[in-house]
Amino acid sequence: MNRSVSVIGLGYIGLPLAMSLCEKGFYVVGVDVDTKKVEMLQKGITHVMEDCDGVPLQDVLRKHLQERAFHPTTRVAVAAWETSAYIVTVGVPVNRDGELDTRPLTAAMEQLGRVIKPNDLVLIRSTVSPGMVEELCIPILEQTSRMSPGEDFHVAYAAERVAEGRAMREFQTLDVVVGGLTERCAVKAAELLGQLTSGKIHVTDLRTAQAVKVVENVQRDLNIALAHELSRFAEFHNIDVYELIRMANTHPRVQLLQPGIGVGGFCIPNAYHYMRHSLGSELSLPLLQLARHINQDAPARVVEAVEQGLRSVGKPLSGTVVAILGLGMKDNSNDVRESPAVVLADLLRDRGAVVRAYDPLVPLQFPFQTKTLKECLYQCDALVVATWHDVFAEEDFPAALSVRAHGCVVYDRKRHLQPYLESSQIDDKDVVTA
Ligand SMILES: NC(=O)c1ccc[n+]([C@@H]2O[C@H](COP(=O)([O-])OP(=O)(O)OC[C@H]3O[C@@H](n4cnc5c(N)ncnc54)[C@H](O)[C@@H]3O)[C@@H](O)[C@H]2O)c1
Repeated sequence: MNRSVSVIGLGYIGLPLAMSLCEKGFYVVGVDVDTKKVEMLQKGITHVMEDCDGVPLQDVLRKHLQERAFHPTTRVAVAAWETSAYIVTVGVPVNRDGELDTRPLTAAMEQLGRVIKPNDLVLIRSTVSPGMVEELCIPILEQTSRMSPGEDFHVAYAAERVAEGRAMREFQTLDVVVGGLTERCAVKAAELLGQLTSGKIHVTDLRTAQAVKVVENVQRDLNIALAHELSRFAEFHNIDVYELIRMANTHPRVQLLQPGIGVGGFCIPNAYHYMRHSLGSELSLPLLQLARHINQDAPARVVEAVEQGLRSVGKPLSGTVVAILGLGMKDNSNDVRESPAVVLADLLRDRGAVVRAYDPLVPLQFPFQTKTLKECLYQCDALVVATWHDVFAEEDFPAALSVRAHGCVVYDRKRHLQPYLESSQIDDKDVVTA
């Protein structure tokens, strides 16, 4: 059995995938076009926050580099010299207008097409708009390789279903849905994937395999939109939405999600757009479109609540200092792609607020980011808890909170700061909103 494989794209998904394959005894060539990222990986450095049974991804990376089980490179030709299976994990980004950027995927296909050999397997794991594999990827592979797909080489699709932060574990345990251009293609892909996961491999047709992933993601988008709608309903009745959801979920057939300040990341916000793109103008999906709008507007509703709170203490939003805690797209994440906290910061800045944000997990990259919690909270007129990380437990909140302005508006829906605010005996100092 050939125990070597290439992973094309070494991002939040590709790198943990490569490491999971190494953990399973594979020799892995990792290819990425980002020269700086590859140089860092060659030195054993990564900012991707994952762990494998408690061992940080960076340590796992260093182990496999040392054992020469992992070879990061920018040259796809190296992948073709050393392996005959390529797992593609490059992204298909979606811009703020909902338009898809297929260039990373098409470029990866062109590069692979130029180097693949007879009998090789191209297994696409990127999330795509259903139909892209047949209509976009395979024709490029065919044209650039001058070989016949499904006969001379194999093409299959199996979406990546893992969640960032739990990827290493989930690669090795989750069920996988796979579709091939031919039955033989699907079998080859299933054989490879069966060596990685202990979960079941479900074989279906190529188009269904692509559609499954976006449907899984859009279901979460819809359920989160429901949670946001319930949040407004609860607000009207002056009840705590989290208590409401907790109580409703005591019913065995109810599984409501919790509202946050929005939805971020590479998966959930893009799912509707991938689906819509696949339909052209022939069909619309009004329910899913509405859910997307509700979730997209969530940070703007936070701005409204903060503004209202400030108004109640006679302060305008413009010119006031608003502190944001947590910039990652979800709790315990340093991924800021599509992060609602970053959208919130931009909206507040557009309205003239002076924004400061603190996130110890996110490397300094925004002009409004501070290095310390105290710096962030200094004389702040409003404080929004956007995401909450376990490492916040190590911060000296009582000291940091003591430097906020009087009449500080606190937007902390999950009440993470409550114990600190209560113990600091400064309840006359805050206006707790929402
Ligand atoms: N992030 C998640 O939680 C998650 C979960 C499940 C599935 N996915 C899907 O997995 C895919 C990858 O997501 P990600 O979060 O790892 O994205 P990412 O942007 O972190 O990583 C993509 C990597 O591909 C590289 N790349 C781009 N073009 C390339 C090319 N032609 N050749 C080689 N490398 C190239 C980029 O430099 C980048 O390092 C996406 O399709 C995404 O939808 C993501």
